[in-house]
Amino acid sequence: MIPVYDADLFTDEALTDPYDVYRTLRDLGPVVRLTAHDVYAVTRYADVRTVLEDPEAFCSRRGVGFNDLINDAGRGTTLMSDGEQHERLREVIGRPLTPKALAEVRPDAQALADRLADELALRGSFDAVCDLAEVLPATWVPDLLGWPQEGRDRLIEWGAANFDALGPANARAEAAGAGVVEMAAYAHHLAESPLPKGSMAAGILEAAARGDIAVEQCPFAIIDYLGPSLDTTVSALGNAIWLFATHPDQWQLLRREPDRVKHAFNEVLRIETPISAFTRVTTRPATIGGVELPAGARVMVSYASANRDERRWDDPDTFDITRNSAAHIAFGYGDHACAGMGLARLEGAAVLGALVERIEHFELSGPPVRKLNNLIRSFASLPVTVRVSAPTDRAGVPPSDSPASWPPPLT
Ligand code: HEM
Repeated sequence: MIPVYDADLFTDEALTDPYDVYRTLRDLGPVVRLTAHDVYAVTRYADVRTVLEDPEAFCSRRGVGFNDLINDAGRGTTLMSDGEQHERLREVIGRPLTPKALAEVRPDAQALADRLADELALRGSFDAVCDLAEVLPATWVPDLLGWPQEGRDRLIEWGAANFDALGPANARAEAAGAGVVEMAAYAHHLAESPLPKGSMAAGILEAAARGDIAVEQCPFAIIDYLGPSLDTTVSALGNAIWLFATHPDQWQLLRREPDRVKHAFNEVLRIETPISAFTRVTTRPATIGGVELPAGARVMVSYASANRDERRWDDPDTFDITRNSAAHIAFGYGDHACAGMGLARLEGAAVLGALVERIEHFELSGPPVRKLNNLIRSFASLPVTVRVSAPTDRAGVPPSDSPASWPPPLT
């Protein structure tokens, strides 16, 4: 018998603090029937990987969202395709996101992050969401991708709408409908526009011109960049600042050992996973953790729960940047693992690296406000005050008693 869980996983309360519910689901069994959402939940780390590494049995082409409307609309994207079509699209959108291609843009990201961190250090108090986490994803990344200035002020709203719409057919998904339609119209418009030469999205149009993909696939491939390139990274950076502000010992550790920045970003992604879950559909009877599911079953794979599974992680609810979190699955796993993870990691390392050189201490200066979304875990606002390090300590060694007034206030 497959255990049943009746409660709604997407109420404000459940989204604000989902971790007890995830533990309950993990303890109930490898597969749990969620009656409120008409899906089978897979929440243990090993089982989530089993599903993700078998796209033949657990397909994406019938949609990875929780409702039919978005699953029909998203068909044709890399995210919601399989087999040869997925391979071809993935090859095209992945080309500018390889480590080699990204190495060329890394210095720009670092220079921007350094400038941003200098500016924030001077200000002393700021909102870590709009003044920090959103800056690179909403300005530098759109430049890289090749989006025109027109429409950029809507990117944050569209990104959130996209992830709300992928959730179950609740009020939040319904309210997101207009934003998703606008984003799709923007993608169609871009597919017919001359995009800046050398930009990532221009590569999609060039691939179509060469015949590598069909011209009709261009708007979908553009949505593959538009949809997930913003909110995910904003979420990760905001979560990082919140975690370090509330765990000052971990920030001090990172300041003593700044080489740990990449590991620290992994630990942030593990413990506060930006995308909570997607779904798959079984193409035939399939077994997960010894439990047999029929063909045609929609299965929820919870990245966020897997990353807190006590069967995989010691003391999983503790934020510990010394742990080896590299095996987290915040970027998914298998054929559909995040195509933009290199870019997200690059942004994370650039921003945290710049901050760790300059900021001695973060403190929350007001109550953090959550931005509740069906699938993305993030903050709407995160007011912080920082104490900065003296310039001589920029090697990453924390000063013992550096003056709180450096740099001097602007007059
Ligand atoms: C911290 C930031 C990010 C997180 C946590 C994240 C997370 C994910 C996850 C969990 C998946 C797997 C979907 C699945 O299993 O079906 C995914 C796929 C994808 N992501 Fe990301 N992502 C991030 C940033 C980005 C960025 C910056 C881009 C674009 C430049 C991007 C583009 C994509 C694309 C195109 C896919 C679909 C890949 C495929 O289906 O083959 N992501 N992402």
